[in-house]
Amino acid sequence: MDSKSQIPTPHIEAKEGEIARTILLPGDPLRAKFIAENFLTEVRPFNRTRNMLGFTGNYEGKQVSVMGTGMGCPSMGIYSYELIHFYGVKNLIRVGTAGSIHPDLKARDLVFGMGACTTSNFPALMGFPGVFAPICSYELLKQAAERAESLGLPYRVGNILSSDMFYGPAEGKEATEAWASAGVLAVEMEAAALYTNAACGGANALTILTISDHLLSGESASAKEREESFTDMMTVALGLA
Ligand code: HPA
Repeated sequence: MDSKSQIPTPHIEAKEGEIARTILLPGDPLRAKFIAENFLTEVRPFNRTRNMLGFTGNYEGKQVSVMGTGMGCPSMGIYSYELIHFYGVKNLIRVGTAGSIHPDLKARDLVFGMGACTTSNFPALMGFPGVFAPICSYELLKQAAERAESLGLPYRVGNILSSDMFYGPAEGKEATEAWASAGVLAVEMEAAALYTNAACGGANALTILTISDHLLSGESASAKEREESFTDMMTVALGLA
């Protein structure tokens, strides 16, 4: 940890010891509240700054926290940095949705982001003398794959794209097809910053995604598929606590 005197931080008002070693990170703070209320017991809130709600509770006898991160690499960059460096969080698991760009990826499939390509400048700003490759923790990935297999849940492991653009040319058909041609599975907006901060801060990170829509075919998951895949994703992610 950098310094305890930096707690509370400009963005997180938790006191020392209020955040668990393992945290689940949805983009949406209301999703964090929903997860705490529906999956955890003995829930204690720890953050309301900027409404980026955070909670700590128990899951199957283990302490786990959950907090929103907002959208995009800069927002993920701020929260993951403070969690790692000022609160000593060791395992950071992003749980989110993504647009599929792989022909075989179906709406209910889970995606584990092994690597995160990006159109963001975030990893480059770390100042390495070459191109840094943001990757997940092998340990967390192995545990997640084993858990998905034991539950009989379909999953894919591979490269994802952390895009800095939701609307515009970088999200267009041509750009999407270029990433797809290199086997990239799905597009989201935060994993590259999370993986970079975890690597540079000595922590473990993983991104688990459910597919909300298919960016090339235009298909989107039904409400039932979204609900089922969200529950699948939570069952895998909480098992990593
Ligand atoms: N782009 C970026 N992030 C996303 C998308 C998308 O199309 N769908 C769900 N998350």
